[in-house]
Amino acid sequence: MNRSDGSRRLFLKLTALFSAGAALHTGGLLAKPAGMTPQTTRFAMPRTEGIRPVSIASYNGLESVRRATEGMRNGEDTLDAVLAGVNIVEDDPADDSVGYGGLPNEDGVVELDSCVMHGPTMRGAGVAALRGIRNPSRVAKVVMERTDHVLLVGEGALRFARAHGFREENLLTDASREKWLRWKERLSTEDDWLPPHTPEDRNIGALALEEYERPTGTINCLGVNANGDVSGVTTTSGLAFKIPGRVGDSPILGAGLYVDNSVGAAGSTGRGEANLLSLASFLIVERMRQGDTPTDACLFACRRIVEQTKMKRLLDKTGRPAFNVNFYALTIHGEHGSASIWSGKKYAVNDGGESRLLDAAFLYQS
Ligand code: GLY
Repeated sequence: MNRSDGSRRLFLKLTALFSAGAALHTGGLLAKPAGMTPQTTRFAMPRTEGIRPVSIASYNGLESVRRATEGMRNGEDTLDAVLAGVNIVEDDPADDSVGYGGLPNEDGVVELDSCVMHGPTMRGAGVAALRGIRNPSRVAKVVMERTDHVLLVGEGALRFARAHGFREENLLTDASREKWLRWKERLSTEDDWLPPHTPEDRNIGALALEEYERPTGTINCLGVNANGDVSGVTTTSGLAFKIPGRVGDSPILGAGLYVDNSVGAAGSTGRGEANLLSLASFLIVERMRQGDTPTDACLFACRRIVEQTKMKRLLDKTGRPAFNVNFYALTIHGEHGSASIWSGKKYAVNDGGESRLLDAAFLYQS
């Protein structure tokens, strides 16, 4: 059923009213942390006309948004469309942040997290710390459809996946195993794991531990169809070399993903621990309900995380977060946006033509 022109006009009117208020509120928050005022030039984004169907994703989802939008144009359910989109990345060994070929935990075992949410029925579910199944997003959908539960983890999630015919396999590719080994061999000069070295090398511990960052890649994909129905999915192998059993934001509804079929959807990538403490996807959807544009709502969530980050070990020399979190948001009208704490991030969009990468807004210039 198409949403009526009347309700759309009402939405736009309310939106205009609330946007003014939201901008003022934004200004108040910005002034707070002295000496670390974020850039203001990108705030209060003008409300643009959306196109539907449209799908957006994190930067690694160019192919995903193409597949998702094509599916929605062909009448596919919005959740099936975004799922098919992220399955491409889960199956791709070249993306070491998601699914098959994802970077493993500290024991060298790949553990995957994912959740899905279906706007039209307001159902959702997740799986966490799932081993041996390359498409955790598909398992999450079956949890949603075939149980009375919303979250299954670890061994229980694996047994559930087996019961539903998911094929088990070793998800660790040689490339990811090599990266894990590199990390492990440079962890300490006191243990017995040594990086490759020559007879002349003396200080093996100094062999570039600092050159190795632990990635927190992920894919989030959101889609809205011509009727204004919206769904989303987030899927990841989580923080590289994590403590076994560590779960980030990606499988947690309200944190890594949230959908409300009367407003829109939001999702995240980046440091999951920060987002778990702010439940930012839910926050972003609520901000959009109050009239924020998608970009402003994402920026609001970024500022919330900045304000909530008190631990010195998580701050850089200037008192700003020493990590990044990225948010993606889409309204039921097809408007979209993205923002990160730090600059330089992009997000993928497909509204019917070629998929393209757009700049995300940000609080701080990297
Ligand atoms: N955002 C992905 C993770 O922290 O696991």
